[in-house]
Amino acid sequence: MRFRIFSRSRSRDISLVSGALENADPTKWQAHRFGLSRERWGSLAGRSYWITGAGTGFGRAISTVLAAAGARVFLTGRRAFRLNETRDDTRGFGAASERCITVPADIRDEDQVRAAASSIASRTGHLHGLVSCAAVPEPGDIRSPLSELTLADWENLVATNVTGQWLVAKHARPLLMRHPGARTIFLSSEAGWADTAGFGPYNVSKSALNSLVMSIAAEWARDFPDRDSQVNILVPGEARTEMNQGSDHSPYAVVSMTLALLTHPPEGPTGRFFHRDGRHLEFGHARPYHRDLFTR
Ligand SMILES: NC(=O)c1ccc[n+]([C@@H]2O[C@H](COP(=O)([O-])OP(=O)(O)OC[C@H]3O[C@@H](n4cnc5c(N)ncnc54)[C@H](OP(=O)(O)O)[C@@H]3O)[C@@H](O)[C@H]2O)c1
Repeated sequence: MRFRIFSRSRSRDISLVSGALENADPTKWQAHRFGLSRERWGSLAGRSYWITGAGTGFGRAISTVLAAAGARVFLTGRRAFRLNETRDDTRGFGAASERCITVPADIRDEDQVRAAASSIASRTGHLHGLVSCAAVPEPGDIRSPLSELTLADWENLVATNVTGQWLVAKHARPLLMRHPGARTIFLSSEAGWADTAGFGPYNVSKSALNSLVMSIAAEWARDFPDRDSQVNILVPGEARTEMNQGSDHSPYAVVSMTLALLTHPPEGPTGRFFHRDGRHLEFGHARPYHRDLFTR
């Protein structure tokens, strides 16, 4: 997937490139801690995180590293066997697989999302963070999908990439707000800034997600001013995952920036946009975040 960004100078203004370790070897995590200070890496131990799309790709990479850091990780996706594979992978990081708890759900279905949140609540009572990676790619033939896409394919894309994200946020919110300092990340895409012909529906879904996340960030800040909630978008860039078999990049490339956002101290970014390579982006009226994410 290569997206043509419609106005690089206006939509992708790059204000800061931080200490993100995009190419860190995941097997050497004890040496580099994905760019985190020892203190911030240590803060992950014992915390609880909900990861959607956790059975494959970026979601699996993020989940296994969080487990390696000693966190408790709730894994959501539709296919239980994929979630079990993620749980088993944590052993490769020397982590106990019990740190990963599978909570299968289809995020398009509110009853299933509600049940997943209830299941998490019954085990922890609160969440320190949510990373929503679940999504579906452009369906079918990409030559002219806006012209030829079926209504069912359009509705599935929007139901997963937009409505499902809203449902997860809605049902995670009570768990996240029980704990001061919760961090929430949604994975978007360059497509959210792009007009690439043939990718129209996916572009729309990611642009809508960007807007949704800005709105969620503002609403949660208004409703819980004393909670230090930080809700942000992370653009993961290309990597070889189920939805993109054409890339040579590892999905572990997104882990460093994910952890930087999850462990960010108070008074950090919310409603902001970042790229896995450390760039701070802008979208709509949201300006690039003005401080480095790794140094505090
Ligand atoms: N890979 C890239 O090059 C690339 C580039 C830019 C952005 N992204 C973004 O990165 C994020 C992660 O994607 P990925 O690359 O890691 O792709 P992936 O391996 O295909 O992961 C997508 C995950 O979403 C889950 N999912 C799909 N529909 C779901 C539903 N209705 N309910 C619950 N889970 C669902 C899938 O699991 P089940 O099928 O088992 O449900 C799968 O584990 C997405 O937001 C994607 O748009 C990827």
